[in-house]
Amino acid sequence: MIKQAIIPLAGLGTRMLPLTSVMPKELLPINGKPNLEYILEECLQAGIKQFIFIISTKKKNIKKYFYNDKFYQKIIKKKKDKRIQEEFNKIKKYRKMIKFVYQNKPNGTGDAVLRCKKHIKGNYFLMLLPDDLIVKNNCTKEMINLHKQKKCSIIATKKVPQKTVSRWGILSLRNKKKNYFEITNVVEKPKLNKAESNYAIIGRYILPKIIMNEIIKLKPGQGNEIHITDAIRNLIQKGNRFYGNIFKGKYLDCGTLSGYINSSIEISKDLK
Ligand code: G1P
Repeated sequence: MIKQAIIPLAGLGTRMLPLTSVMPKELLPINGKPNLEYILEECLQAGIKQFIFIISTKKKNIKKYFYNDKFYQKIIKKKKDKRIQEEFNKIKKYRKMIKFVYQNKPNGTGDAVLRCKKHIKGNYFLMLLPDDLIVKNNCTKEMINLHKQKKCSIIATKKVPQKTVSRWGILSLRNKKKNYFEITNVVEKPKLNKAESNYAIIGRYILPKIIMNEIIKLKPGQGNEIHITDAIRNLIQKGNRFYGNIFKGKYLDCGTLSGYINSSIEISKDLK
């Protein structure tokens, strides 16, 4: 069973400046709720019991969001507002489930995962990138189901326009079925003419604990960062099975300002 989810949150969010100069991008509200809470809800509904947040000293406000008891207690005493009390209860519930781990230099997703090594209990864990929201259908649930069926690692994927392949991790595949396929290779941000498909990695992964042994051996790759993509490729080459889950939900990119604005519009439309 997949019970633990790793969420890398140490990125600087430079694509969202000036908003992110004071506010972590993961706390920016989308239709009145922090981006991060959409991710937590998706996980809760899928049966996740523990979150490991990888933050940095610059992103301590994320921790504060979950540990601001004094502030709430004073207000709740004075105002007796039901909505605030409910929000506070929700935050306390999440807090019990979160472990904080630090990554003070943004050295990439691989490095972030490695920092969680001693906390991983099962043979597999989930990783979610908070820039990637998937709404309408619970992608984590779909992936856990496919994992149960195939008993191997799973990556969320979707077809992207051919001309954008260099922005993503790109999968090579075989034996494609309606909603999934076997992954034969992964390349981080390939050149346009080198991409073997236009199935992109979207930020949800069910990974084996043994990936830690591969990450340790990695040298910095694309953009001088340690990429989880490179560790995944090495595992595939050693015969570990990975499947791509072509998710049904709607993908919203919250990592850029225009994407963030669009996500807010799309989510409020859906709630009407
Ligand atoms: C990361 C991953 C990439 C993946 C993308 C999905 O890239 O490295 O493989 O396709 O997320 O959003 P980033 O968005 O951090 O550049």
